[in-house]
Parts: sequence; structure tokens; C-alpha cells
Amino acid sequence: MREADVIIVGSGLAALMVAYHLCEHKNVIIFTKSKKETSNSWLAQGGVAAAIHPDDHWLSHYTDTMIAGCEHNDEEAVRILVQEGREAIQQFINLGFSFDVDEHGQLLFGQEGAHRMRRILHAGGDATGKNMVSFLFEKLSNRVTFIENDPVIDLLVSDGRCVGVQTKNGTYTASAIVIATGGIGQLYAFTSNAETATGDGIAMAYRAGAAVADMEFVQFHPTMLYVDGKAVGLISEAVRGEGAMLVTDDGRRVMDGVHPQKDLAPRDVVSRAIEREMKNGHFVFLDVSMIPHFSSRFPTITSLCERYQIDWRNGLLPVVPGAHFLMGGIVVNVDGETTLPGLYAVGEAACTGVHGANRLASNSLLEALVFSRRVAFQLLNKTEQRLTLKKSERKENNVRVALPTKEDIQRMMTQYVGIVREYDQLFYAKQWFEQYSIDELVNMAPEHDDEKRTIIYMLIVGWLMTTSALQRRESRGAHYRSDEPFERTYWEKRRIVRTKEEHLMKEGSR
Ligand code: SIN
Repeated sequence: MREADVIIVGSGLAALMVAYHLCEHKNVIIFTKSKKETSNSWLAQGGVAAAIHPDDHWLSHYTDTMIAGCEHNDEEAVRILVQEGREAIQQFINLGFSFDVDEHGQLLFGQEGAHRMRRILHAGGDATGKNMVSFLFEKLSNRVTFIENDPVIDLLVSDGRCVGVQTKNGTYTASAIVIATGGIGQLYAFTSNAETATGDGIAMAYRAGAAVADMEFVQFHPTMLYVDGKAVGLISEAVRGEGAMLVTDDGRRVMDGVHPQKDLAPRDVVSRAIEREMKNGHFVFLDVSMIPHFSSRFPTITSLCERYQIDWRNGLLPVVPGAHFLMGGIVVNVDGETTLPGLYAVGEAACTGVHGANRLASNSLLEALVFSRRVAFQLLNKTEQRLTLKKSERKENNVRVALPTKEDIQRMMTQYVGIVREYDQLFYAKQWFEQYSIDELVNMAPEHDDEKRTIIYMLIVGWLMTTSALQRRESRGAHYRSDEPFERTYWEKRRIVRTKEEHLMKEGSR
């Protein structure tokens, strides 16, 4: 058994920033289940939103965030995001990071959907996340321990406190464990997410007893490059910010008459409009022909197109919506504390409530910068107890039914818990998940086989998402129910919070 002061699970921007703030004072181990470069942050193209332009104001950013989130947001978390965000960006620049600037050395501000002004900073054109993460890898070199390709398979709990992790290859204890495992995009057939984004951090936290919330709110990004029936990578919203328009194969503008902000309408609105066209038998393209110097402004997208032999010079890029971001996750307060003592969460895996029912574009890298500082501050200022590890209370493996494949789960989620939902379909999906005895999966000893464990954790997360979507009988933000198409006042700010205890109590009473 090995010990650390702090264990961080995941290697995206939020994980690295927590590590950066702690590494002078604490012994930190970062675990990743794959290579450390495999993360959603690495793939993030768009940028970081922050009210730092002299004509901008944090209140304007606050309002845009609340409107995009359909007022489901936690107001304090949003205020912290937009106010502390300006300082966090400045701190990142002071560390030596370069955002893109114009020929006079002034910061360049991009435009994205549902922002009322240009406030998005980017780096390397459309390689913002990769540049930020690489910068931090350098800063952290030899200052923390990275353990790659060693998946955390379970969280260890003793006397009601999270005291460590079990990985594929060993057992590690620490006085604080931080989950920063990112999102759940791989539960869907089309996604912008890294191949590792299977929701396992959320499933492990739920299994350990931490509450999760807002699991029904999944943002679908409208424009994934669509080649041979597959979504092969993201085309940033910044492209529409520079004037690109969605058109159908018969030459109509998709967003005409749909929303006053047209192609820069909130992502859920744009995704539904594209899905509607596709269901009616049309293909949808992003017309980029009006963007000057496309390849130098968007080098990552240009090379993506070239890899798949899509001629971006002809101006029409085939697109499809894909799962992009989970607004829900492990319930945390604004200092990253979960409901399970000793366990923290940050980044997409966490739910501060900052994104409400729909995340505003480019607020996720900002969230990582802001809330990682707060988690680190909390860990530096709190004397955490260190408890001894007791024998696990987990039941031995007892999956009694044959597991589905990952593709089966992706099909189920895409078809029945997708962009547009309705009661019968959600109910069907719930029953489908429940044939796999979710209560047993929640309680059993961790599965050591990587493929099987991933599927088990995907089943738990898919079930949480489906049942939460069934429970929320209204449409709000990214959760759109065709049978309940309006926001309902009685649901405002009401979050669907789920715990293992409540789950097992219900199962026991059947
Ligand atoms: C994008 O570049 O369109 C994605 C940015 C984001 O999700 O905030």
C-alpha cells in the first residue's frame, strides 16, 4: 500500500490545476487510465470565456451564463465563476501562458453562441485546450507523480470517509481524493469527447456514497464533422462565431425562422434543428466559405478535415450533433467538497450547478481554472484526518446476467435518451438498463477486467441519466421532452439529486 497527501484521478485542465496549486506543499499523485494527454481538455478547441475586455463586465457574463443555463444555475457558483475567472486568467497569463494576440500584441477575443459580446480567448487558433494542458505538463514536470495507464477501479471508504483508491495495480491511501475524470460523452454513438470519457469517476463516487445531481442535462454540440456515418471530431462553435452558417443539402439555411440568434443560438436549439433536418432525410453542412484565412485561424479543424479527405476549400463541411458536455455530475459545494468526507470533485465530473441546464460556450475551461484554485485552497487550509483502511464491505462480484456491449449502451442512449426525449422512450430505456440489476452493480466489488468494468460503470451512469430524465417532467435547456415541451415554474432550481442510500432503500423495499 502506498500513501500520498492528495490523489487526483484524471489529467485534464482541472486535475492539473489542482496539482499545480498544491505541488509546492503536498505530495500529489495523479492517476490516469490511459496516457495523460487523453482528456477532453486536450481536445478543447473553442477557448476560455472571461469578462476581461475593457468594454465587458462580469455582470454581462453572469447574465449570459444564467440565460444559457435557463436559470437552473447556482447563482453563487456563477458569480464566483465570472468574478474570479478574470483573476484566474490573469494568473495563468502571469505564469507565462500566451493566448492569441493581434499584430499589436492585444488579446484577440472570439465570439461563440449565446454570448452577447466577443469574450473568448483562444490559443493556437483552435488548439486552446491542448496548449493549456501542455503548458501545465511542463510546469508540473518532476513536481508531482503521474501514474499513467493505471485505472482507478474503486474508491475506498472507511467509517464514512473516502480514504484512498484501488487501482488496477495497487492500493493507495491519501487524506484527500479529487475526482477530475471528465464527462460521459462515450455513452453516446456521436461525441466530441475523448475515448476515456465513460463516466467512471461519477459511477465510482456514486458507488462510494457521494450524491450526484442534474444527470439529465447533457449538452449536444451541433457541429461534429460527419464522415461515413460517424462523428469524427469537433468543429468549434468559434467557426460559426466567425460567420459560418448551417445549410441543408437543398440549399436552405437551417436556422432561418428557428431562433433570433440564428446559427449562434444556444446549442440545444441548434442541435434540435439539425436533428430535425436529418430525420427529414436531409444532410446538413457548415458553410465556411466566407471565412478568410480559414486554415490559419482553425488549424486543428483544417487538419481534421484533411485527415478525412473533406475538402474544406469547397466551403461545405458535413456535420452532425454529438454529446459534448454533462452539466450534472458529483454534487460539490463551491470548494469542491462532495457529500462524502475526504472526496472532492472538480471539472466536468463535478456539479457545482454553475452551468445550470445548459453550459454557456467556453465556460468549461474557465470552470476548471476557477474551481481548481478553490479546491486546492481548501486542501491547503484544512487539516484532513487520515483514517486507516478497513476491510472492504463490497460484495464479491455477482453480475448474474451477460453484460451488453459498449455499442449497445451507445445505441440505447442515442436513440432513447438523446437530443429529444419522451416518456415512453425513456421508460423503455430505464427498463433496458434495469435488466442488468443496477443495484447489484452499485454494490459489488470492483471488476478488474477493463472492458467489463467500463461497461458496468457506463450502465450505472446511463441508468442515472435515464431515470433523472424520466423524473424531470418539463423541458429546460439541454433536457428537451417532446411530451413536456415547456419549462415549468415549479421545477425552477429544483435539482434531481441521487444517492446510493436512497437507491438501495428503494430496491430493498420492492
Ligand atoms: C467549441 O469550440 O465549440 C466548444 C467550446 C465549448 O464547448 O465551450
